[in-house]
Amino acid sequence: MSKFRGAVVTRIACVAAAIVAQWPAVTAAADIDAQAAARIAYGRHLASECTSCHRSDTQEGAIPALAGRPAAQILELLADFREGRKTNAVMVSVAKSLDEEEAAAVAAYFASLPPPGTTAAR
Ligand code: HEC
Repeated sequence: MSKFRGAVVTRIACVAAAIVAQWPAVTAAADIDAQAAARIAYGRHLASECTSCHRSDTQEGAIPALAGRPAAQILELLADFREGRKTNAVMVSVAKSLDEEEAAAVAAYFASLPPPGTTAAR
């Protein structure tokens, strides 16, 4: 009987340990979501510098749309301007004016928008 009870206690302890072990993962995921949301909000603020030329709605204009593009692609293009692989004068100066954190925030913001041609909410 005491053997059985020992096994039950051990099992409960294991389950409890497993639950406790999950906690950091759960809170870490919430932290990442909060960080991503904060970055997008910061990016939206910074993007007021871009949206006079790059539309942030779902219409395609003469200037390439950034909405809905992967953040990594936007960052790569900004690096192309900053490092001279692309030479549009305005964009070279825009790209050079953004530090790493600002560029990441702006890229995250545009990536979070619905791409041109979609009917998602404007
Ligand atoms: C005064 C107008 C203007 C402003 C402001 C501006 N851009 Fe641009 N951007 C352009 C033009 C024009 C191009 C196309 C240049 C080229 O590729 O020769 C371009 C191209 C780009 C590209 C490359 C797109 C592609 O498909 O090749 C990225 C990325 C970009 N801009 C990001 C930004 C970001 C981010 C901001 C704000 C921080 C910004 N731009 C502000 C005019 C502007």
